[in-house]
Amino acid sequence: MELVTETQVRGKLSEVSKRFLARPERELTEAVLGLSATRKSLPAWLFYDATGSALFEQITELPEYYLTRTERALLTSYSDEILELASAGKSLSMSELGSGTAAKTGILLQAAVRRQGLVFYQPIDVSKVSLDTAREYINQRIPGVTVLPQLSNYVIEPIQLERHAGKKALVLYIGSSIGNFLKGERIRILRRLRDAMEPEEGLLLGTDLAPSQHKSLYALFAAYDDSQGVTAKFNLNVLTRLNREVGMNFNPNLFRHLIRWNAVESRIEMHLESIVRQEVMVPAGLDAMELRIRFGKGETIHTENSYKFNTGMIDEMFTAAGFSVTKVWTDPLQTFALTLAAAR
Ligand code: TRP
Repeated sequence: MELVTETQVRGKLSEVSKRFLARPERELTEAVLGLSATRKSLPAWLFYDATGSALFEQITELPEYYLTRTERALLTSYSDEILELASAGKSLSMSELGSGTAAKTGILLQAAVRRQGLVFYQPIDVSKVSLDTAREYINQRIPGVTVLPQLSNYVIEPIQLERHAGKKALVLYIGSSIGNFLKGERIRILRRLRDAMEPEEGLLLGTDLAPSQHKSLYALFAAYDDSQGVTAKFNLNVLTRLNREVGMNFNPNLFRHLIRWNAVESRIEMHLESIVRQEVMVPAGLDAMELRIRFGKGETIHTENSYKFNTGMIDEMFTAAGFSVTKVWTDPLQTFALTLAAAR
């Protein structure tokens, strides 16, 4: 394998991005750096272009994808209690990290409108299409909510919460998106969020839970490798995106969706496995140097982790990031948890 330095990749990418102005250079750099490493990986946000965002919406409706269903049921049962605890007598405004189309958030917003009349809602997401869908949906269905969308990548851009006089912010970070980050990254994201919050303000975090006597590994596998192949398509779409936005020449037919359960790390891993020995190009920029990414047969690109938590992990993460847990809600089979925590 040809060794590529970070400087080389950064130099090249600044050239490539002059030709393909589709994404901020920093984002593309992160993606190509991941492919140039000895163990190839790609960042999680790369999934969510227009096609990927639509495919992800389909995933959330799959019979095998129990996460969305379970979290929605928890929100339906406990919205009033969540809002009561989070508001502590004050009027709330809501911000949401990785809101997507905010399909589940409607439940909380509706409950908040019942309690306080008017609500400011700030969805923050990397997907423009999802934000547009969210705004339209809420404007049509939940009068009383003012939607203030923010197109932003909360992983690498500053987190800015919309402040409103006299309002206490409640931040939503649901869908187990936090589980798509490594331990250190999770704490870093939550700390940056904590710094944007006032003491006593609330964070509602959704986390998928580890397998147990009630939750089989089989159910977990099915959720990430569904029978209709939607998750496989979603995973493979990152290659199409890199072709379009970086000008690479992946043949998606020469890769396959692969999942692994990593028991030591308590995570589902998503990979794209190269089914042949092959080479893929990052095209030449003004430097006239193309970069070759080599794949052995069976070599994988690690595209995503989805950590599965237990209460110890959740507590530890909140403590490290400057929050204290207020209350945890789970379903009877303990497959999913919603945790309300307060900024310290
Ligand atoms: N946050 C979701 C999860 O971890 C994202 C997700 C669902 C996902 N299915 C996926 C990410 C398949 C990559 C591949 O469950």
